[in-house]
Amino acid sequence: MHDVLWPESARWEQVLAQFAHLVEGAAYGLAVTPLIEHIAVFHRGVGEDSEMVGKEMYTFADRDGQVMALRPEGTAPIVRAFVQHNPTPPWKTWYAAPAFRHERPQHGRYRQHFQLGVEALGPADPGLDVEVVSLAHDFFTALGLRQFTLNINSMGDGECRPAYLALLRDFLAERRDQLCDAHRDRLDQNPLRVLDCKTEACRAATANAPHFIDHLCDACGEHFARVRAGLDALGVPYEIDHRLVRGFDYYTRTTFEFASGAIDAAQNAIGGGGRYDGLVEMLGGDPTPGIGFGLGIERLLIACDAEGVYPTVPPVLEAYVVDVTGGDVAIELTAELRRAGLRVDRGFDGRSMKSQLKTADRSGALVALIVGSNELADGAVTLRPLREETGQRSVDRADVVAEVRAYAAEHIATHKGT
Ligand code: HAM
Repeated sequence: MHDVLWPESARWEQVLAQFAHLVEGAAYGLAVTPLIEHIAVFHRGVGEDSEMVGKEMYTFADRDGQVMALRPEGTAPIVRAFVQHNPTPPWKTWYAAPAFRHERPQHGRYRQHFQLGVEALGPADPGLDVEVVSLAHDFFTALGLRQFTLNINSMGDGECRPAYLALLRDFLAERRDQLCDAHRDRLDQNPLRVLDCKTEACRAATANAPHFIDHLCDACGEHFARVRAGLDALGVPYEIDHRLVRGFDYYTRTTFEFASGAIDAAQNAIGGGGRYDGLVEMLGGDPTPGIGFGLGIERLLIACDAEGVYPTVPPVLEAYVVDVTGGDVAIELTAELRRAGLRVDRGFDGRSMKSQLKTADRSGALVALIVGSNELADGAVTLRPLREETGQRSVDRADVVAEVRAYAAEHIATHKGT
């Protein structure tokens, strides 16, 4: 788990703001759900035999003896809220929240990560799949990422999945001896997980496994074709990945994952999602289709760093007030500038002019506003540019806000560009 401190946190704020702007532009509204849920939400929604729910959840009994879980992912809580509040679909929502998984920590894989995501409930229309996938694609692109790929697959539905699972189970049963230890014994529980297994043994054994998309029912086949056509029409590049089954039980039909080509292969998934047309029912609601995606900010920023895009740009301070006359002027002047909407800091503790100016310089402020005994007597302030050698001048106390604003307007773009 990580502390995210300034100035890195400035980048988080920007990512959040940019995500909110993008998805709110597509009519997704913010949802904030509790950090903890009854464990049943994840048992029923995500599946008890999924790796995440079975082995990685942080769970505890509360004082009433109810077993609770720290949210390991965002979809089941949103769907629980949908069932509970029963809003009129289509219901499109986004979230930004920490998720907890007791995984083996490594670079890009943490026990607490911060997920941004969207969920859209109601329409079964493949056009909604295209909307959701392309929103994620557009977000990565807007951050400046170029080295990422989109893989898609279809997991079918209740109509075609049983027959495909039977086919896959038979195929794997014939090769049981070639599978990794874990899957040799667990094959019958969920054969799809074998397709996703990263071991050499399972990968080799499944090289010629039947592909789900060749065994979809007509409705799922048509749905997948229309999703593909929509992505093609929008110029969103993708590849079909027959192994993309995702780890949770709720997925149906379209599944997708974005991978960064710029980071370590093991933790390269920068976002993923899919349809979950049965999840609302699994959590006790009326049958309602749904689709969404989630992405982890930490991994996203690792990908940005690897590509050298989206650098940390802390907000520029417009002014730093240096008062060596006791501090009373600083109290008023700082408040006046801030109330006028300027970003301002000041020196404290009656430190020397030299010491305050050093801090002013380190703060990154554009100008220092110096108040010494002469300035105090004259009702003036000395405006000293800190990012250029010249331009120091005396400014009438009444004109300080206007002068700083004018100076910032002229210099802030140049300063940011350096
Ligand atoms: P997920 O693939 O488990 O899907 O997680 C989504 C994204 O969260 C991943 O692609 C990755 O960027 C990030 N992530 C996951 N686990 C970690 C971790 N341990 N450390 C750092 N980053 C991580 C879901 O959670 C689904 N709820 C997505 C979804 C939404 N499906 C439908 N709607």
